[in-house]
Amino acid sequence: MDASTSSAWSALAYLIAGVLFILALRGLSSPATSRAGNRYGMIGMTLAVATTLVTHGIASLPEIAAALALGGGIGFVIARRIQMTDMPQLVAAFHSLVGLAAVLVGWAAYLNPGAFGILEGAEIASHSRVEMGLGIAIGAITFSGSIIAFLKLAGKMSGAAILLPGRHVLNLGTLALILGLVGCFTQDEALWVIAAITALSFMIGFLLIIPIGGADMPVVVSMLNSYSGWAAAAMGFTLHNTAMIVTGALVGSSGAILSYIMCKAMNRSFLSVIAGGFGADAAAGGGGAVREQRPWKRGSAEDAAYIMKEAENVIIIPGYGMAVSQAQHVLREMADQLKAHGVNVKYAIHPVAGRMPGHMNVLLAEANVPYDEVFELEDIQGEFAQADVAFIIGANDVVNPAAKTDKSSPIFGMPVFDVDKAKTIFFVKRSMGGVGYAGVDNDVFYMDQTMMLLADAKKMVEEIVKALAH
Ligand code: TAP
Repeated sequence: MDASTSSAWSALAYLIAGVLFILALRGLSSPATSRAGNRYGMIGMTLAVATTLVTHGIASLPEIAAALALGGGIGFVIARRIQMTDMPQLVAAFHSLVGLAAVLVGWAAYLNPGAFGILEGAEIASHSRVEMGLGIAIGAITFSGSIIAFLKLAGKMSGAAILLPGRHVLNLGTLALILGLVGCFTQDEALWVIAAITALSFMIGFLLIIPIGGADMPVVVSMLNSYSGWAAAAMGFTLHNTAMIVTGALVGSSGAILSYIMCKAMNRSFLSVIAGGFGADAAAGGGGAVREQRPWKRGSAEDAAYIMKEAENVIIIPGYGMAVSQAQHVLREMADQLKAHGVNVKYAIHPVAGRMPGHMNVLLAEANVPYDEVFELEDIQGEFAQADVAFIIGANDVVNPAAKTDKSSPIFGMPVFDVDKAKTIFFVKRSMGGVGYAGVDNDVFYMDQTMMLLADAKKMVEEIVKALAH
């Protein structure tokens, strides 16, 4: 096959892979079609990888095989060892690798432009310099920002916002300087310019993420996901790889759309997320809640079984603790038993419940909870007033009324479920001492209609299931 026929075939294969990725994203937008979406994605990726292997240009096959064996081997070991609850920080760590790869590809192209076919005469083509400069900048921001997100999500660094004085001026000034240097790079391909772009971009990545604390982290995770997509797209330009450009742009834009949706759900401004440090002034008061001694009521599995069996409407609000204890399967059993007693059971999912976008939906789908019993915040909020029971299992911040009333709270402004309107509240958690991700006390613990069910979520629900059976 001659070179032009081969590149026409690879262009067609990449186009088909791009269409499959779009179908994958479409499928993933609803739980009912997500399995098909995953399959489209896998087929598309297999096609893209196979095409790259057949038409490989810059690296030889043994080099590609060695890189695949090394990276794949490490990925395999990590995937086998990782706990489901550690997935958010793993995702952040993987985003950082995409960013680092973009930086390394940019530097490789700078140091050996001939191998990448980007020379125009003796100099690097000016459009390639723009791609390279932006690719390195976005990649470096993604890398250092994701490292901070990883440390915060893994609890290795305080989750609270760290507010530097004059941070907005510093951030905007640094961003402007980076863009100026990219412009300068198109005129002068000196080493110091690209080195300065790299160093400043690593720095701004840190600066953009450290002021973001507490309950605002979810938006950051999806924003970094978006950045990693743009970094991959920039790499695609440098490597002349259409599939990478298309895939990177898809990840970049879908991540940006998800961030926008989450910003709306969290009542935050999208623009201030990109500028870094949004909501940080409100967050300044959070982190270390002052815990007062207030009266509260302890309930038992038998109380919960008795009251829920007699109820007409029960709304279950799952959160991070359900994921920790893997209570989703037994929770579905409990719901099945309640339904058998004629109770109307619904699940209420907050957009930031758990630690990943869609975390609760995935767990409930794994436990075969019917999709039509699962409701988003805006679709179920109005039903709490008619609910006999709000059954909160491992959720905390997403039902905390401080988000509505306490301006100094790190979650102020975030919409939360109106569980206080339900006649009875069961609150499943392990202890009165444990707080949610944002680290703040919750008035719901002390409400007249609340009964605390203090135990591991799975154990407590198993006991309720037993009590329901009697
Ligand atoms: P959280 O507010 O984090 O509360 C989790 C609750 O689960 C705590 O009350 C904890 O209390 C309890 N818990 C932990 N392990 C448990 C177990 N084995 N059995 C029973 N209970 C257990 O959860 P949420 O309401 O889902 O809110 C999510 C928070 O995470 C929000 O602030 C959100 O902004 C943040 N966040 C979300 C994301 C995404 S994308 N969803 C990403 C990063 C951060 P005990 O320790 O007393 O048991």
